[in-house]
Amino acid sequence: MTEHTFIPKPYLNTIENGKVTWESPSNIALIKYWGKKKDQIPENPSISFTLNNCKTITSLSFQKKETTSDFSFEIFLDGEKKDDFKPKIQTFFERIEVYLPFLRDYHFKIETQNTFPHSSGIASSASGMSALALCLISIEKQLSSEISEVYFNQKASFLARLGSGSACRSIEGDLIVWGQTMHIEGSSDLFGVKYPYKVHDNFKAYQDTILLVDKGEKQVSSTVGHNLMHHHPYAKNRFLQADANFEILKPILESGNLNAFIQLIESEALTLHAMMMTSMPYFILMKPNTLEIINKIWKFRQETGLHIGFTLDAGANVHVLYPKNESFEVLEFIKNELVAYCQNGHYICDQIGFGAYQLTMDN
Ligand code: DP6
Repeated sequence: MTEHTFIPKPYLNTIENGKVTWESPSNIALIKYWGKKKDQIPENPSISFTLNNCKTITSLSFQKKETTSDFSFEIFLDGEKKDDFKPKIQTFFERIEVYLPFLRDYHFKIETQNTFPHSSGIASSASGMSALALCLISIEKQLSSEISEVYFNQKASFLARLGSGSACRSIEGDLIVWGQTMHIEGSSDLFGVKYPYKVHDNFKAYQDTILLVDKGEKQVSSTVGHNLMHHHPYAKNRFLQADANFEILKPILESGNLNAFIQLIESEALTLHAMMMTSMPYFILMKPNTLEIINKIWKFRQETGLHIGFTLDAGANVHVLYPKNESFEVLEFIKNELVAYCQNGHYICDQIGFGAYQLTMDN
């Protein structure tokens, strides 16, 4: 399969206007994507849990226009016009135009909102870009009327990837792999696929409580961050390690070995941060409270034997991961001992989810 698979045949139908709404979740990577080639091709495979509660709801209204010389769109976040989002969407449209040739035919109104606070330090690019990609492919589905469900999901993921790499892992759930690796049959650099092997019940309804340590703007944008992996002294080994970690993860997911799972995801998180500490320029994206939380988690785990672990994105917030049947004890611990390290005591309870949903489609 190549990119060309996603260039459509001439459309058979015409539509004057309409509106479509999707909600799409965020996701949290277990094996991290960090480093990419041209055209949003990842340097290594990654896998994530799709989340359930942290999501973006996007409505896309479209109205046929007279001229097709330019893209025409406006964006609203929580009802407020957001012209500062325009360059990102313009770039996205330019990248995907060849795959969605109707883009210049319509004026688009994009209305979006997140279920998590905008200034929470939680990246909205995965949920936001996947929601927009889904709205767009829904229009294509109406124009061409010969799109299968498999193709729909693959193309939605493919388009979302061109907006933000990790967004391609938000279309479906509950475990999604992106990036070609011999360890996962059917894996692709072009789009995310459902993890195809057996997953133990221990991972059903796995919990993710996100501790908001730093709600500010990201210190390092993902574009800058991924670029740091070019000419990085340890990049090559890191990419090999991520790939090899799939071989380790497979029997863990099958057997439900939670201790081995925790070891792998914590190592992945710390390696991601180590990559940023050892790049040039270098960054420390953890805050003192991030470290306090990590140490408390380790101590609590040792004392109780509970299966609590953490992962990190490219920032200071901590994702606390644990199985559902240990929720009561872990949440007590979080409330009593970890919330003190969160900015304004804020945290978000989430768990594994099953992907995006279409809310409406009107013509
Ligand atoms: C650390 O998907 O935000 O969250 O492709 O440039 O939009 P772009 O990057 P992005 O990178 C996310 C990196 C990460 C790890 C991960 O989600 O795998």
